[in-house]
Amino acid sequence: MKQLVIEGQHKLSGEIKISGAKNSVVALIPAAILSDDEVKLYNVPNISDTKALIDIIELLNGKVTYDDEVMIINSQNIENKVVPENLSKKLRASYYFMGALLGKFHYAEIYFPGGCNIGSRPIDLHINGFKKLGAEVYIEGNKYIIKADKLKGARIYLDFASVGATINIMLAAVKAEGTTYISNAAKEPEIVNVATLLNNMGARVSGAGTNEIKIEGVSKLSSGVIDVIPDRIEAGTYTIIGALLGQDLKISGIIEDHIDALLSKLREMGVNMYIDKNSIIISSPHEFKPINIKTLVFPGFATDLGQPMSVLLTQADGISIFEETIYENRMGHVKYLQKMGANIKVNDRTAIIIGKTPLKGTEVSATDLRAGAAMVVAGLIAEGKTTINDIEHILRGYEKIVEKLQNVGAKIEVIES
Ligand code: UD1
Repeated sequence: MKQLVIEGQHKLSGEIKISGAKNSVVALIPAAILSDDEVKLYNVPNISDTKALIDIIELLNGKVTYDDEVMIINSQNIENKVVPENLSKKLRASYYFMGALLGKFHYAEIYFPGGCNIGSRPIDLHINGFKKLGAEVYIEGNKYIIKADKLKGARIYLDFASVGATINIMLAAVKAEGTTYISNAAKEPEIVNVATLLNNMGARVSGAGTNEIKIEGVSKLSSGVIDVIPDRIEAGTYTIIGALLGQDLKISGIIEDHIDALLSKLREMGVNMYIDKNSIIISSPHEFKPINIKTLVFPGFATDLGQPMSVLLTQADGISIFEETIYENRMGHVKYLQKMGANIKVNDRTAIIIGKTPLKGTEVSATDLRAGAAMVVAGLIAEGKTTINDIEHILRGYEKIVEKLQNVGAKIEVIES
């Protein structure tokens, strides 16, 4: 069993370079199979989700080369096969093969997706979208069977601006006959990244990044190239760490607009940052003002940053409130923060955080990916040694997290026990 061991309270300086976005690349890789040719992705993060998706492409008889952050996916010989449970369960985003296979072959057979246990996470909006495009959807045991004689453009309204449903419907609709409109579409930057790749492959998608996306179907998609955008959640996590422990810590390779909500909240807490084009230089202030945060869809405060941010709120002088509005179960990390000395009361999806409380190192667990990130933040500021269990969750989403933190002065290592 792998564990992360952190000796806390070391100041951090130097530079952390942000990797390509997990939530983009997990959609860009399935999108590539819609091409009949070669698709090249730059800035691909080397995380376990990426590896799981390569396994699925290879199972479908696609060819993948992945070297030095550049991935080439050749889909000339792609075949339609069942995506088995051992692969589908490895990550949430395996569900993008539903849209991609349906768009390409008009048939997809795929087992239920996996992913973090942060709520019920239904995919009814994806399924309804496929049905609107003309598909029939069956559930057989733990497997979806999705088929269509032909796919026809449709007007699809999403009850909730779901990232996954927006991307999956785009993937299914790019090769449909006629025009599809997705209204109340999600506006996250990852959606723009996927639409840009599809357009580079020959698709006709407009409006990505707004709440109405128009997709004019085309009959063929060919080669395409894309840079994976920087991971705004990774950037946000290291910026929070910088606010706590930075001494002129530089976070480079960011897109400021993508983390605007976080930066604004950090300023409200009294954190000074120097932002220059694609980087932030941050130093920890002597004290933090308490604030309230409420997670929302983009451009609101990202749900994936709520848990790491709640650790910072334990260091503010006074009462802060963290309200989660996207998922039912984002408070898995709280019991471990309490064990470390935090004063937090949880009522359903709201945490009341009373600071400032010193944290003490102890044994904790990563109950999900972002809870794990929160534990890393907590371990870095705690007195003494923090040992984190179940770290596979963390390694799924943060490329080279140990090396990146060691390089700026953190005492952190992975041990096998
Ligand atoms: C994606 C991200 C995840 C992030 C989330 C919100 C990936 C791989 N994951 O997840 O890191 O936290 O966006 O920014 O990109 N919902 C339904 N029915 C559906 C789809 C969603 O009820 O068919 C609900 C979900 O249960 C959840 C909310 O909508 O409460 C948001 O889900 P969604 O935006 O789809 O998130 P994911 O795509 O799963």
